Amino acid sequence: NEIYFAGLGGTLPALPMTAAGLEDLARQRLSPEAFGYIAGSASTERTAAANLAAFDRHRIVPRMLRGTAAPDVRDLSVEVLGTRLAAPVLTAPVGVLELVHPDAEAAVGAVTSELGVGSVLSTAASTSIETVAQVSGETWWYQLYWPSDDEVAESLVRRATAAGAKAIVLTADTPGMGWRPRDLELGHLPFLQAKGIANYLSDPVFRSRLASPPEESAEAMQMAVLTWVSMFGNHAIRANDVARLTEWTDLPIVVKGIVHPEDAHAVVDAGASGVVVSNHGGRQVDGAIGALDALVPVASAVGERATVLLDSGIRSGADVVKALALGADAVLYGRPWVYGLGLAGADGVRHALRMLLADLDLTLGLAGFASVAELDPSILRDA
Ligand code: FNR
Repeated sequence: NEIYFAGLGGTLPALPMTAAGLEDLARQRLSPEAFGYIAGSASTERTAAANLAAFDRHRIVPRMLRGTAAPDVRDLSVEVLGTRLAAPVLTAPVGVLELVHPDAEAAVGAVTSELGVGSVLSTAASTSIETVAQVSGETWWYQLYWPSDDEVAESLVRRATAAGAKAIVLTADTPGMGWRPRDLELGHLPFLQAKGIANYLSDPVFRSRLASPPEESAEAMQMAVLTWVSMFGNHAIRANDVARLTEWTDLPIVVKGIVHPEDAHAVVDAGASGVVVSNHGGRQVDGAIGALDALVPVASAVGERATVLLDSGIRSGADVVKALALGADAVLYGRPWVYGLGLAGADGVRHALRMLLADLDLTLGLAGFASVAELDPSILRDA
């Protein structure tokens, strides 16, 4: 309504009204490095395409004349692992946001808190955990890339817990980076890394591993980056290690990057309270199954034992409806808000999120539903 009324007064919206529109504008306006970093996926990028195609194979069958068209009838709110959200949406963890916009994670934390949706802060953030926590309200979770130095991992988890995170999200699909041609062609990986280690530079255990403080000189900083690189990849983590996380924190543990039902079983057996069905937006295993195609088998495998979230391909309100209908309790929203951040800072993040929420609200109501709790597979047909 706000947009229509502004239009009546002759004011057009500053940013496009679709995820695809945001991507197109970002392609024109962002630096090639920032755009390539956000848009890029692994290898041929066919899994990134499969993520979108999977949504198109399910179609909503709207119900009519059920009194759900007025906005005040609807309830989008959910509680996910004890976090109360105004809608079943959290921003996906995205690292190195300073490459995209100087306001980076602080803008995301502030806007999500203002809108009452969730956010997941990345280990590869450009801003320290404690700084982001100050502006992120009560609805933020912390994502862990488990470094090969366990004491650093423990320190990150303890800091996030102390700073007020409401869950720890262990990303399982990134023991190392995928083959990402767009980043490789731009050759800016070292630059990327230097902008994504604020969680480490602010960590006392990590700093104790350095010969001299990184602030001292350019060489010391370089050494810090190399030390970080040496511990980033951790190929030793197994499903059982989830149990160790539960010793470091009382927060619920969510494992992100699960697409095989047996992996879902294993991490839940080890103490995870939730999983995120995700292929990292197609940035890790090219040729992997589209995330939505993996949702039903994973949700059936864990049943009532764990909360199930989904990301990789959420672009519209209908996508959220489909994911919830097929068994997700909430979704993580990825690239569209990152383009928004690049285009307009906090305003762009707000725009991308409000666009998704309004689209979700309308789609839900026009399809005949008053709350997200009413969604189940019976509302969909295969295309
Ligand atoms: C990511 N993703 C990611 N995941 C994670 O656990 N930690 C991280 O630091 C990052 N960083 C990151 C950077 C960028 C630029 C992108 C696009 C993605 C993956 C992210 O959380 C999520 O799984 C995907 O973004 C979902 O795919 P779509 O919907 O964005 O295509």
